[in-house]
Amino acid sequence: MDNTIYKNRRNSLKESLPENSVLLIPGADMQYRNADSAYAFRQDSNFYYFSGFCEPTSLIAIVNNKDGISTIIFVPPKDKLREIWDGYRAGPIGAVDDFLFDKAYDNTQIDTVMPDILNGSNQVLYAIGKKSGFDQKVIDWTTQAGSKDRHSKSINIIDASSLLGNARLIKDDHEISLMRKACDISAEAHIEAMKSVKSIDSEQHIESLYCNEFSKRGGRFQAYTPIVAGGENACTLHYVENNQNLKKSDLLLVDAGCEYEMYASDITRTFPVSGKFSDEQLKIYEIVLEAMNAAIDQVKPGNDIMQPQEISERVITEGLIRIGLLEGDPEELHKSGAFKEFYMHKIGHWLGLDVHDAGDYMEGDEYMKFKPGMITTIEPGIYISSSMDVDDKWKGIGVRIEDDILVTKDGNENLTSKVPSDPKEIESLMS
Ligand code: GLY
Ligand code: MN
Ligand code: MN
Repeated sequence: MDNTIYKNRRNSLKESLPENSVLLIPGADMQYRNADSAYAFRQDSNFYYFSGFCEPTSLIAIVNNKDGISTIIFVPPKDKLREIWDGYRAGPIGAVDDFLFDKAYDNTQIDTVMPDILNGSNQVLYAIGKKSGFDQKVIDWTTQAGSKDRHSKSINIIDASSLLGNARLIKDDHEISLMRKACDISAEAHIEAMKSVKSIDSEQHIESLYCNEFSKRGGRFQAYTPIVAGGENACTLHYVENNQNLKKSDLLLVDAGCEYEMYASDITRTFPVSGKFSDEQLKIYEIVLEAMNAAIDQVKPGNDIMQPQEISERVITEGLIRIGLLEGDPEELHKSGAFKEFYMHKIGHWLGLDVHDAGDYMEGDEYMKFKPGMITTIEPGIYISSSMDVDDKWKGIGVRIEDDILVTKDGNENLTSKVPSDPKEIESLMS
């Protein structure tokens, strides 16, 4: 097990941590679905990024002083009985030997040791408000550190959310290779679904197909609860019931992506249950696809995150005018936001360890500029629910297309292009 990559990430914090400060990163705790039935443990993404360590209720303290970075980890203690029930624990010795921390303690010692770690520092940084109960813990440790004796320094508490998120914004080669794999697995699952849907009659059956296709390729977990939405269900943006029967005349919108070795993928495809788009479905689909392609073209170094957003709004506005769903001047309609009745969400989000990954969208007062190594989704859509005041022929059509786009030195690479989005290619795959 080579955990040097995580050690290097910790050391790289020298550049961004203030002098004489301590950064705290709490790990995740076990979560329970009901009674004592636990979910499979998922480490907190910040914690994982800086440690590679996957045991619950752990904590990292990274101390930056004039001698450089030193790293401390609190981990579950070795425990013969618990290890029989729950599996191997590295313990403090394993945390130092295998995970390359400078020092390690049992997590039972946090409350006694932490005030001493914080004592004498100028600042304690952590992601404020992100872990239940942790804010009060930091306040308590900081108060105790500051009252060790009358002349103790006062310690400022600073939010580290941006510092931690922005450290994860540009993916290194190791991360990109894992995300390529996650994207490949998800793309292959979407292809299998397109090939099979004609003989499947329910959303739930489709959901199970994705789980199976992900899992047999190594993506045991889904990066998020999938949306498997037949017909008008696609117009409920966060539809996750996935329990209705499919009609042959419906489009099926599936937003599903696996997690592979902790990294997310996030793909949406919309395809006809019958294998053939109707005229109206195709007209809407082609507008979304045009918006998609125009938006992807805008993902390149130097452009900012609002450029794909804006072009997608303009293409959708013009398309809706073309087919008579909006009337008026494109510029005026864009300015007034008329498209929002049909396209009400944003074009995308950062993707990485989390599906809605950490990292800021603004740099000071400006929108974030794309830089090589960033990965964003691009996911325009048009949703026409039956409660809208439009001709009946459009009602119940919901279309979204979503790909995962890596920013490269010269432009971008679509990591999920393996699964077709061109309607002719989809129909031919389904035939
Ligand atoms: N699958 C979640 C999203 O597309 O944002
Ligand atoms: Mn997404
Ligand atoms: Mn999605």
